Amino acid sequence: MKFKSPLIGLSTLLFGVVHTGQADELPSPVVDTDYHYNGAPSEELVELGRLLFFDKIMSGNKNISCATCHSPLTFSGDGLSLGVGEGGSGLGRYRNTGEGDDAVEGRIGRHAPHLYNLGAKEFTHMNWNGIHFEANGQVNTAANRDTPPDLDNVLAGQALFPILNQNEMLGDPIENEIVARLILSRNNSFPPLWNAYMERLRVNPDYVSLFDAAFSDVNSPADIQIQHYANAVAAFQTVAFRSDNSPFDAYLRGNSEALTAQQLRGMDLFYGAANCSSCHSGKFQTDHQFYGIAIPQVGPGGEGRTPHQDRGRAEATRNDEDWGKFRTPSLRNVALTAPYGHTGAYATLRGIVMHHLDPLTALENYDPSQLVKPSRDDLDADDLIGYDDLSLRQIVIDANDLQPVSLSEAEVNDLLAFLESLTDFNVMEQLEWIPQSVPSGLPVKD
Ligand code: HEC
Ligand code: HEC
Repeated sequence: MKFKSPLIGLSTLLFGVVHTGQADELPSPVVDTDYHYNGAPSEELVELGRLLFFDKIMSGNKNISCATCHSPLTFSGDGLSLGVGEGGSGLGRYRNTGEGDDAVEGRIGRHAPHLYNLGAKEFTHMNWNGIHFEANGQVNTAANRDTPPDLDNVLAGQALFPILNQNEMLGDPIENEIVARLILSRNNSFPPLWNAYMERLRVNPDYVSLFDAAFSDVNSPADIQIQHYANAVAAFQTVAFRSDNSPFDAYLRGNSEALTAQQLRGMDLFYGAANCSSCHSGKFQTDHQFYGIAIPQVGPGGEGRTPHQDRGRAEATRNDEDWGKFRTPSLRNVALTAPYGHTGAYATLRGIVMHHLDPLTALENYDPSQLVKPSRDDLDADDLIGYDDLSLRQIVIDANDLQPVSLSEAEVNDLLAFLESLTDFNVMEQLEWIPQSVPSGLPVKD
Protein backbone atom coordinates (compact mmCIF):
# COMPACT_ATOMS: atom_id res chain seq x y z
CA MET A 1 0.00 0.00 0.00
CA LYS A 2 1.23 3.47 -0.81
CA PHE A 3 1.98 5.54 2.27
CA LYS A 4 0.21 8.86 2.27
CA SER A 5 1.25 11.42 4.85
CA PRO A 6 -1.69 12.52 6.98
CA LEU A 7 0.01 15.94 7.12
CA ILE A 8 -1.08 16.74 3.57
CA GLY A 9 -4.65 16.66 4.71
CA LEU A 10 -3.82 18.38 7.96
CA SER A 11 -2.02 21.34 6.42
CA THR A 12 -4.87 21.96 4.01
CA LEU A 13 -7.27 21.72 6.89
CA LEU A 14 -5.29 24.12 9.06
CA PHE A 15 -4.23 26.69 6.51
CA GLY A 16 -6.39 26.20 3.43
CA VAL A 17 -9.45 27.66 5.09
CA VAL A 18 -7.72 30.82 6.23
CA HIS A 19 -5.99 31.60 2.93
CA THR A 20 -8.73 31.39 0.41
CA GLY A 21 -6.57 32.59 -2.51
CA GLN A 22 -4.57 29.39 -2.45
CA ALA A 23 -5.67 26.91 -5.09
CA ASP A 24 -2.94 24.26 -5.04
CA GLU A 25 -2.21 22.12 -2.00
CA LEU A 26 0.85 22.97 0.01
CA PRO A 27 3.56 20.30 0.04
CA SER A 28 3.99 18.08 3.09
CA PRO A 29 7.05 18.78 5.29
CA VAL A 30 10.48 17.46 4.28
CA VAL A 31 11.57 14.37 6.28
CA ASP A 32 14.82 12.36 6.55
CA THR A 33 13.48 9.54 4.39
CA ASP A 34 13.11 11.96 1.47
CA TYR A 35 16.89 11.77 1.09
CA HIS A 36 19.25 9.05 -0.11
CA TYR A 37 20.71 7.03 2.77
CA ASN A 38 17.72 8.36 4.81
CA GLY A 39 19.82 11.51 5.05
CA ALA A 40 22.52 9.76 7.09
CA PRO A 41 25.29 8.07 5.07
CA SER A 42 28.27 6.90 7.14
CA GLU A 43 30.55 9.61 8.49
CA GLU A 44 33.55 7.98 6.82
CA LEU A 45 31.86 8.17 3.42
CA VAL A 46 30.90 11.82 3.91
CA GLU A 47 34.39 12.77 5.09
CA LEU A 48 36.02 11.12 2.05
CA GLY A 49 33.50 12.85 -0.23
CA ARG A 50 34.17 16.18 1.43
CA LEU A 51 37.91 15.99 0.81
CA LEU A 52 37.42 14.88 -2.81
CA PHE A 53 34.94 17.72 -3.39
CA PHE A 54 37.50 20.31 -2.28
CA ASP A 55 40.67 18.65 -3.62
CA LYS A 56 42.09 19.94 -6.91
CA ILE A 57 43.77 16.57 -7.42
CA MET A 58 40.49 15.63 -9.12
CA SER A 59 41.18 17.93 -12.07
CA GLY A 60 43.54 17.28 -14.97
CA ASN A 61 45.87 20.20 -14.25
CA LYS A 62 45.27 20.13 -10.45
CA ASN A 63 43.98 23.69 -10.57
CA ILE A 64 40.23 23.41 -9.88
CA SER A 65 37.89 21.46 -7.61
CA CYS A 66 34.12 20.97 -7.50
CA ALA A 67 34.08 23.63 -4.80
CA THR A 68 35.54 26.24 -7.14
CA CYS A 69 32.15 26.43 -8.88
CA HIS A 70 30.00 25.11 -6.01
CA SER A 71 31.43 26.81 -2.94
CA PRO A 72 29.60 27.14 0.38
CA LEU A 73 31.00 30.70 0.33
CA THR A 74 28.79 31.48 -2.66
CA PHE A 75 25.84 29.34 -1.56
CA SER A 76 26.90 26.21 -3.49
CA GLY A 77 27.14 28.07 -6.80
CA ASP A 78 29.85 30.47 -8.01
CA GLY A 79 27.91 33.75 -7.96
CA LEU A 80 28.72 34.38 -11.63
CA SER A 81 26.39 34.35 -14.62
CA LEU A 82 28.65 31.95 -16.53
CA GLY A 83 31.47 30.26 -14.65
CA VAL A 84 35.17 30.08 -15.40
CA GLY A 85 36.55 26.57 -15.58
CA GLU A 86 40.05 25.15 -15.36
CA GLY A 87 42.81 27.63 -16.16
CA GLY A 88 41.07 30.45 -14.31
CA SER A 89 42.09 31.55 -10.85
CA GLY A 90 40.38 32.91 -7.76
CA LEU A 91 36.87 32.29 -6.43
CA GLY A 92 33.42 33.79 -7.00
CA ARG A 93 33.39 37.30 -8.47
CA TYR A 94 37.14 37.55 -7.89
CA ARG A 95 37.72 34.68 -10.28
CA ASN A 96 39.46 35.58 -13.54
CA THR A 97 40.24 33.81 -16.77
CA GLY A 98 43.90 33.06 -15.98
CA GLU A 99 47.27 33.90 -17.44
CA GLY A 100 49.26 33.03 -20.58
CA ASP A 101 49.20 29.48 -21.97
CA ASP A 102 47.25 28.19 -18.99
CA ALA A 103 44.37 30.67 -19.45
CA VAL A 104 40.90 29.29 -20.15
CA GLU A 105 40.20 28.27 -23.74
CA GLY A 106 36.42 28.29 -23.63
CA ARG A 107 33.86 29.56 -21.17
CA ILE A 108 31.18 27.38 -19.63
CA GLY A 109 27.90 27.76 -21.53
CA ARG A 110 25.51 27.38 -18.61
CA HIS A 111 25.12 28.94 -15.19
CA ALA A 112 26.45 26.76 -12.33
CA PRO A 113 23.36 25.72 -10.35
CA HIS A 114 23.21 25.59 -6.57
CA LEU A 115 23.33 22.09 -5.02
CA TYR A 116 20.70 22.43 -2.28
CA ASN A 117 18.75 19.26 -1.49
CA LEU A 118 19.90 17.40 -4.60
CA GLY A 119 20.36 14.37 -2.34
CA ALA A 120 16.57 14.13 -2.08
CA LYS A 121 15.41 11.05 -3.97
CA GLU A 122 12.89 13.00 -6.03
CA PHE A 123 15.76 14.68 -7.93
CA THR A 124 15.98 11.94 -10.56
CA HIS A 125 17.31 14.25 -13.29
CA MET A 126 20.54 16.26 -13.13
CA ASN A 127 21.74 19.33 -15.04
CA TRP A 128 19.63 21.98 -16.74
CA ASN A 129 18.89 19.47 -19.54
CA GLY A 130 18.31 16.40 -17.31
CA ILE A 131 20.94 14.46 -19.24
CA HIS A 132 21.95 12.29 -16.28
CA PHE A 133 18.90 10.51 -14.93
CA GLU A 134 17.62 7.66 -12.88
CA ALA A 135 14.74 5.44 -13.94
CA ASN A 136 13.59 2.17 -12.38
CA GLY A 137 16.46 2.35 -9.90
CA GLN A 138 19.01 2.44 -12.74
CA VAL A 139 21.39 5.37 -13.16
CA ASN A 140 21.68 6.44 -16.78
CA THR A 141 24.54 8.73 -17.67
CA ALA A 142 25.90 10.16 -20.89
CA ALA A 143 28.52 7.37 -20.69
CA ASN A 144 26.01 4.69 -21.80
CA ARG A 145 27.75 1.30 -21.70
CA ASP A 146 30.79 2.84 -20.00
CA THR A 147 28.70 3.73 -16.91
CA PRO A 148 30.46 2.13 -13.93
CA PRO A 149 28.56 -0.48 -11.88
CA ASP A 150 27.27 0.08 -8.34
CA LEU A 151 26.54 3.81 -8.50
CA ASP A 152 24.44 4.66 -5.44
CA ASN A 153 22.25 7.28 -7.17
CA VAL A 154 22.05 9.84 -9.96
CA LEU A 155 24.06 12.35 -7.94
CA ALA A 156 26.94 9.86 -8.09
CA GLY A 157 26.33 9.48 -11.83
CA GLN A 158 26.58 13.24 -12.28
CA ALA A 159 29.90 13.42 -10.37
CA LEU A 160 31.59 11.33 -13.08
CA PHE A 161 31.36 14.10 -15.66
CA PRO A 162 32.79 17.46 -14.52
CA ILE A 163 36.19 15.74 -14.23
CA LEU A 164 35.94 14.68 -17.90
CA ASN A 165 34.86 18.04 -19.28
CA GLN A 166 37.83 19.78 -20.88
CA ASN A 167 36.70 23.33 -20.04
CA GLU A 168 35.44 22.51 -16.56
CA MET A 169 38.12 20.31 -14.98
CA LEU A 170 40.05 18.13 -17.45
CA GLY A 171 42.21 20.58 -19.38
CA ASP A 172 43.34 20.75 -22.96
CA PRO A 173 44.81 17.85 -24.92
CA ILE A 174 48.50 17.23 -24.10
CA GLU A 175 48.33 19.33 -20.90
CA ASN A 176 48.26 16.43 -18.45
CA GLU A 177 48.52 12.65 -18.13
CA ILE A 178 44.75 12.25 -17.71
CA VAL A 179 43.55 14.06 -20.81
CA ALA A 180 46.39 12.31 -22.67
CA ARG A 181 44.41 9.05 -22.27
CA LEU A 182 41.70 10.61 -24.39
CA ILE A 183 44.05 10.83 -27.33
CA LEU A 184 45.51 7.38 -26.73
CA SER A 185 42.13 5.69 -26.30
CA ARG A 186 40.98 7.04 -29.71
CA ASN A 187 37.35 5.94 -29.34
CA ASN A 188 36.59 8.58 -26.71
CA SER A 189 36.04 5.98 -24.05
CA PHE A 190 35.70 7.25 -20.48
CA PRO A 191 37.08 4.44 -18.24
CA PRO A 192 40.77 5.05 -19.08
CA LEU A 193 40.42 8.67 -17.90
CA TRP A 194 38.57 7.72 -14.73
CA ASN A 195 41.22 5.15 -14.03
CA ALA A 196 43.98 7.75 -14.52
CA TYR A 197 42.38 9.86 -11.78
CA MET A 198 42.16 6.82 -9.50
CA GLU A 199 45.86 6.12 -10.09
CA ARG A 200 46.60 9.50 -8.52
CA LEU A 201 44.55 8.58 -5.45
CA ARG A 202 45.90 5.02 -5.13
CA VAL A 203 49.44 6.33 -4.49
CA ASN A 204 48.31 8.78 -1.81
CA PRO A 205 48.44 7.01 1.60
CA ASP A 206 45.89 9.40 3.16
CA TYR A 207 43.36 8.64 0.44
CA VAL A 208 44.05 4.91 0.65
CA SER A 209 43.12 4.87 4.33
CA LEU A 210 40.10 7.13 3.78
CA PHE A 211 38.73 4.83 1.02
CA ASP A 212 39.52 1.81 3.18
CA ALA A 213 37.53 3.28 6.08
CA ALA A 214 34.58 4.27 3.87
CA PHE A 215 34.12 1.06 1.83
CA SER A 216 34.03 -2.57 2.92
CA ASP A 217 35.10 -3.69 -0.57
CA VAL A 218 38.28 -1.59 -0.56
CA ASN A 219 41.11 -3.52 1.08
CA SER A 220 44.07 -2.43 -1.01
CA PRO A 221 44.91 0.55 -3.24
CA ALA A 222 44.04 -1.46 -6.36
CA ASP A 223 40.45 -1.81 -5.12
CA ILE A 224 39.80 1.96 -5.38
CA GLN A 225 37.48 2.48 -8.36
CA ILE A 226 35.71 5.44 -9.92
CA GLN A 227 32.33 4.38 -8.46
CA HIS A 228 33.80 4.68 -4.95
CA TYR A 229 34.85 8.24 -5.71
CA ALA A 230 31.41 9.06 -7.19
CA ASN A 231 29.45 7.51 -4.30
CA ALA A 232 31.51 9.40 -1.73
CA VAL A 233 31.05 12.76 -3.47
CA ALA A 234 27.30 12.06 -3.73
CA ALA A 235 27.06 11.21 -0.02
CA PHE A 236 28.90 14.42 0.88
CA GLN A 237 26.59 16.58 -1.25
CA THR A 238 23.52 14.87 0.22
CA VAL A 239 24.53 15.81 3.75
CA ALA A 240 26.40 19.08 3.23
CA PHE A 241 23.82 20.82 1.06
CA ARG A 242 20.66 19.54 2.70
CA SER A 243 18.65 22.62 3.51
CA ASP A 244 15.16 22.27 4.97
CA ASN A 245 14.99 24.61 7.94
CA SER A 246 13.51 27.74 6.40
CA PRO A 247 10.56 29.65 7.88
CA PHE A 248 8.42 27.96 5.20
CA ASP A 249 9.55 24.55 6.51
CA ALA A 250 8.69 25.61 10.05
CA TYR A 251 5.25 26.68 8.83
CA LEU A 252 4.68 23.34 7.10
CA ARG A 253 5.77 21.55 10.28
CA GLY A 254 2.99 23.30 12.13
CA ASN A 255 4.36 26.63 13.40
CA SER A 256 1.62 28.95 12.19
CA GLU A 257 3.63 32.01 13.35
CA ALA A 258 6.66 31.21 11.17
CA LEU A 259 5.60 33.37 8.22
CA THR A 260 4.80 37.09 8.21
CA ALA A 261 1.44 38.31 6.94
CA GLN A 262 3.14 39.48 3.73
CA GLN A 263 4.82 36.10 3.23
CA LEU A 264 1.46 34.36 3.70
CA ARG A 265 -0.09 36.58 1.04
CA GLY A 266 2.85 35.77 -1.24
CA MET A 267 2.40 32.05 -0.52
CA ASP A 268 -1.25 32.28 -1.54
CA LEU A 269 -0.22 33.92 -4.80
CA PHE A 270 2.54 31.36 -5.43
CA TYR A 271 0.16 28.44 -4.88
CA GLY A 272 -2.77 30.28 -6.43
CA ALA A 273 -3.33 33.23 -8.75
CA ALA A 274 0.31 33.68 -9.84
CA ASN A 275 0.34 30.04 -10.99
CA CYS A 276 3.98 29.49 -9.94
CA SER A 277 3.18 26.09 -8.42
CA SER A 278 2.00 24.74 -11.76
CA CYS A 279 5.74 24.17 -12.39
CA HIS A 280 7.43 24.97 -9.05
CA SER A 281 5.49 22.29 -7.15
CA GLY A 282 6.38 19.69 -4.53
CA LYS A 283 8.57 19.83 -1.45
CA PHE A 284 11.40 21.63 -3.23
CA GLN A 285 9.33 23.84 -5.55
CA THR A 286 10.09 21.88 -8.71
CA ASP A 287 8.06 19.44 -10.79
CA HIS A 288 11.33 18.18 -12.36
CA GLN A 289 9.88 18.85 -15.82
CA PHE A 290 11.35 20.91 -18.67
CA TYR A 291 10.03 24.19 -20.08
CA GLY A 292 11.07 27.11 -22.20
CA ILE A 293 10.51 30.40 -20.38
CA ALA A 294 12.37 32.70 -22.81
CA ILE A 295 15.43 33.30 -20.63
CA PRO A 296 17.88 35.45 -22.67
CA GLN A 297 20.48 33.18 -24.29
CA VAL A 298 23.81 34.83 -23.53
CA GLY A 299 27.30 33.38 -23.81
CA PRO A 300 28.64 30.56 -25.94
CA GLY A 301 25.62 28.23 -25.53
CA GLY A 302 25.33 24.60 -24.50
CA GLU A 303 27.91 21.98 -25.50
CA GLY A 304 29.42 24.27 -28.14
CA ARG A 305 27.99 22.53 -31.19
CA THR A 306 25.60 25.36 -32.06
CA PRO A 307 27.28 28.65 -31.06
CA HIS A 308 25.14 31.03 -29.00
CA GLN A 309 22.29 28.56 -28.85
CA ASP A 310 21.32 26.02 -26.26
CA ARG A 311 19.28 23.01 -27.31
CA GLY A 312 18.53 22.38 -23.64
CA ARG A 313 16.41 19.29 -23.02
CA ALA A 314 16.74 18.27 -26.70
CA GLU A 315 20.40 17.50 -25.96
CA ALA A 316 19.22 14.63 -23.76
CA THR A 317 16.17 13.44 -25.71
CA ARG A 318 17.29 14.30 -29.29
CA ASN A 319 13.70 15.37 -29.82
CA ASP A 320 13.30 18.73 -31.61
CA GLU A 321 10.21 19.54 -29.57
CA ASP A 322 12.40 19.76 -26.49
CA TRP A 323 14.67 22.42 -27.99
CA GLY A 324 15.26 25.30 -25.59
CA LYS A 325 13.51 23.66 -22.59
CA PHE A 326 15.27 23.59 -19.23
CA ARG A 327 14.61 21.85 -15.94
CA THR A 328 12.42 23.72 -13.46
CA PRO A 329 14.90 24.73 -10.74
CA SER A 330 14.21 24.18 -7.06
CA LEU A 331 13.58 27.49 -5.31
CA ARG A 332 15.09 26.57 -1.93
CA ASN A 333 17.39 29.42 -0.75
CA VAL A 334 16.58 31.23 -3.98
CA ALA A 335 17.07 34.66 -2.38
CA LEU A 336 20.75 33.74 -1.89
CA THR A 337 21.57 32.08 -5.21
CA ALA A 338 21.73 34.97 -7.71
CA PRO A 339 22.27 35.29 -10.63
CA TYR A 340 19.30 33.37 -12.06
CA GLY A 341 18.29 31.25 -15.03
CA HIS A 342 20.29 28.73 -17.07
CA THR A 343 22.54 31.53 -18.37
CA GLY A 344 22.58 33.52 -15.14
CA ALA A 345 21.02 36.33 -17.20
CA TYR A 346 19.17 37.96 -14.29
CA ALA A 347 21.13 39.57 -11.49
CA THR A 348 18.24 39.99 -9.06
CA LEU A 349 15.33 37.95 -7.75
CA ARG A 350 12.96 40.76 -8.66
CA GLY A 351 14.36 40.70 -12.20
CA ILE A 352 13.74 36.98 -12.76
CA VAL A 353 10.28 37.17 -11.18
CA MET A 354 9.33 40.15 -13.38
CA HIS A 355 10.60 38.16 -16.36
CA HIS A 356 8.14 35.36 -15.50
CA LEU A 357 5.20 37.78 -15.45
CA ASP A 358 5.71 38.80 -19.10
CA PRO A 359 8.50 36.65 -20.55
CA LEU A 360 8.53 37.76 -24.19
CA THR A 361 8.47 41.49 -23.40
CA ALA A 362 11.19 40.95 -20.80
CA LEU A 363 13.30 39.10 -23.37
CA GLU A 364 12.91 41.97 -25.82
CA ASN A 365 13.88 44.59 -23.23
CA TYR A 366 16.68 42.56 -21.63
CA ASP A 367 19.59 44.63 -20.30
CA PRO A 368 22.85 42.64 -20.55
CA SER A 369 24.71 45.11 -18.32
CA GLN A 370 23.36 43.11 -15.36
CA LEU A 371 25.40 40.00 -16.27
CA VAL A 372 27.66 39.07 -13.36
CA LYS A 373 31.10 38.68 -14.90
CA PRO A 374 34.38 37.51 -13.45
CA SER A 375 36.88 40.15 -12.31
CA ARG A 376 38.75 40.00 -15.58
CA ASP A 377 36.67 38.84 -18.48
CA ASP A 378 38.27 37.92 -21.79
CA LEU A 379 34.98 37.12 -23.47
CA ASP A 380 34.80 38.85 -26.78
CA ALA A 381 31.76 41.14 -27.16
CA ASP A 382 30.70 38.77 -29.96
CA ASP A 383 30.53 35.93 -27.50
CA LEU A 384 27.59 37.61 -25.80
CA ILE A 385 25.30 37.71 -28.80
CA GLY A 386 22.24 35.54 -28.84
CA TYR A 387 19.72 37.55 -26.89
CA ASP A 388 19.84 40.41 -29.44
CA ASP A 389 20.31 38.47 -32.69
CA LEU A 390 16.76 38.37 -34.04
CA SER A 391 16.88 34.94 -35.68
CA LEU A 392 18.48 33.38 -32.61
CA ARG A 393 16.01 35.17 -30.36
CA GLN A 394 13.12 33.75 -32.40
CA ILE A 395 14.23 30.23 -31.43
CA VAL A 396 13.98 31.20 -27.75
CA ILE A 397 10.56 32.78 -28.37
CA ASP A 398 9.28 29.68 -30.19
CA ALA A 399 10.29 27.47 -27.25
CA ASN A 400 8.39 29.57 -24.71
CA ASP A 401 5.77 27.73 -22.62
CA LEU A 402 5.16 30.41 -19.99
CA GLN A 403 1.93 32.41 -20.02
CA PRO A 404 1.99 36.03 -18.81
CA VAL A 405 0.44 36.76 -15.41
CA SER A 406 -0.80 40.16 -14.32
CA LEU A 407 0.14 41.17 -10.76
CA SER A 408 0.10 44.53 -9.00
CA GLU A 409 3.31 45.96 -7.58
CA ALA A 410 2.14 45.09 -4.07
CA GLU A 411 1.49 41.51 -5.14
CA VAL A 412 4.99 41.22 -6.66
CA ASN A 413 6.40 42.39 -3.33
CA ASP A 414 4.32 39.77 -1.52
CA LEU A 415 5.59 37.06 -3.87
CA LEU A 416 9.20 38.14 -3.27
CA ALA A 417 8.58 38.06 0.49
CA PHE A 418 7.35 34.48 0.15
CA LEU A 419 10.43 33.48 -1.89
CA GLU A 420 12.57 34.91 0.93
CA SER A 421 10.76 32.64 3.38
CA LEU A 422 12.41 29.72 1.52
CA THR A 423 15.81 30.81 2.91
CA ASP A 424 17.32 28.46 5.50
CA PHE A 425 19.81 30.56 7.45
CA ASN A 426 21.57 27.40 8.65
CA VAL A 427 23.36 27.49 5.28
CA MET A 428 25.87 29.77 6.99
CA GLU A 429 26.96 26.72 9.01
CA GLN A 430 27.89 25.01 5.75
CA LEU A 431 31.05 27.13 5.69
CA GLU A 432 32.35 24.67 8.27
CA TRP A 433 32.54 22.00 5.58
CA ILE A 434 35.46 23.86 3.97
CA PRO A 435 38.55 21.85 5.02
CA GLN A 436 41.74 23.51 6.27
CA SER A 437 43.74 21.21 4.01
CA VAL A 438 43.25 18.24 1.67
CA PRO A 439 45.28 15.00 1.29
CA SER A 440 47.03 16.14 -1.92
CA GLY A 441 48.38 19.22 -0.14
CA LEU A 442 47.05 21.41 -2.98
CA PRO A 443 45.64 24.82 -1.95
CA VAL A 444 41.99 24.88 -0.85
CA LYS A 445 41.13 28.53 -0.41
CA ASP A 446 41.82 30.11 -3.77
C1 HEC B 1 33.76 25.09 -13.92
C2 HEC B 1 32.68 25.09 -12.97
C3 HEC B 1 32.20 23.77 -12.42
C4 HEC B 1 32.93 22.80 -11.77
C5 HEC B 1 34.41 22.78 -11.51
C6 HEC B 1 31.97 21.80 -11.35
N1 HEC B 1 30.71 22.16 -11.73
FE1 HEC B 1 29.00 21.23 -11.23
N2 HEC B 1 28.01 22.36 -12.55
C7 HEC B 1 28.54 23.42 -13.25
C8 HEC B 1 27.60 23.83 -14.28
C9 HEC B 1 27.79 24.96 -15.27
C10 HEC B 1 26.50 22.95 -14.18
C11 HEC B 1 25.27 22.90 -15.08
C12 HEC B 1 25.64 22.00 -16.25
C13 HEC B 1 24.51 21.77 -17.21
O1 HEC B 1 23.35 21.96 -16.84
O2 HEC B 1 24.77 21.36 -18.36
C14 HEC B 1 26.79 22.05 -13.07
C15 HEC B 1 25.90 21.07 -12.61
C16 HEC B 1 26.14 20.31 -11.47
C17 HEC B 1 25.17 19.46 -10.83
C18 HEC B 1 23.72 19.30 -11.23
C19 HEC B 1 22.90 20.31 -10.49
C20 HEC B 1 21.44 20.22 -10.84
O3 HEC B 1 20.62 20.91 -10.19
O4 HEC B 1 21.09 19.50 -11.77
C21 HEC B 1 25.80 18.84 -9.78
C22 HEC B 1 25.20 17.86 -8.80
C23 HEC B 1 27.17 19.29 -9.81
N3 HEC B 1 27.33 20.20 -10.83
C24 HEC B 1 28.16 18.82 -8.96
C25 HEC B 1 29.51 19.01 -9.25
C26 HEC B 1 30.58 18.17 -8.70
C27 HEC B 1 30.39 17.01 -7.75
C28 HEC B 1 31.75 18.67 -9.21
C29 HEC B 1 33.15 18.12 -9.03
C30 HEC B 1 33.34 16.75 -9.47
C31 HEC B 1 31.39 19.82 -10.05
N4 HEC B 1 30.04 19.96 -10.07
C32 HEC B 1 32.32 20.64 -10.68
C33 HEC B 1 29.76 24.01 -13.01
C34 HEC B 1 30.81 23.34 -12.41
C1 HEC C 1 5.87 26.96 -17.11
C2 HEC C 1 6.57 26.56 -15.89
C3 HEC C 1 6.93 27.67 -14.92
C4 HEC C 1 6.10 28.53 -14.24
C5 HEC C 1 4.59 28.64 -14.34
C6 HEC C 1 6.96 29.33 -13.39
N1 HEC C 1 8.26 28.97 -13.55
FE1 HEC C 1 9.86 29.76 -12.61
N2 HEC C 1 11.11 28.69 -13.80
C7 HEC C 1 10.72 27.72 -14.68
C8 HEC C 1 11.86 27.24 -15.42
C9 HEC C 1 11.85 26.15 -16.49
C10 HEC C 1 12.96 27.97 -14.95
C11 HEC C 1 14.41 27.89 -15.50
C12 HEC C 1 14.40 28.37 -16.95
C13 HEC C 1 15.74 28.66 -17.57
O1 HEC C 1 16.70 28.97 -16.86
O2 HEC C 1 15.82 28.61 -18.81
C14 HEC C 1 12.46 28.85 -13.91
C15 HEC C 1 13.23 29.70 -13.12
C16 HEC C 1 12.77 30.39 -12.02
C17 HEC C 1 13.60 31.12 -11.10
C18 HEC C 1 15.13 31.18 -11.13
C19 HEC C 1 15.71 30.08 -10.28
C20 HEC C 1 17.19 29.87 -10.47
O3 HEC C 1 17.79 29.22 -9.58
O4 HEC C 1 17.76 30.31 -11.47
C21 HEC C 1 12.77 31.71 -10.18
C22 HEC C 1 13.17 32.58 -9.01
C23 HEC C 1 11.42 31.34 -10.53
N3 HEC C 1 11.46 30.53 -11.66
C24 HEC C 1 10.28 31.76 -9.85
C25 HEC C 1 9.00 31.61 -10.35
C26 HEC C 1 7.83 32.29 -9.82
C27 HEC C 1 7.85 33.24 -8.64
C28 HEC C 1 6.77 31.90 -10.58
C29 HEC C 1 5.34 32.40 -10.49
C30 HEC C 1 5.19 33.81 -10.78
C31 HEC C 1 7.27 30.96 -11.57
N4 HEC C 1 8.61 30.82 -11.41
C32 HEC C 1 6.47 30.32 -12.53
C33 HEC C 1 9.42 27.28 -14.90
C34 HEC C 1 8.29 27.95 -14.47
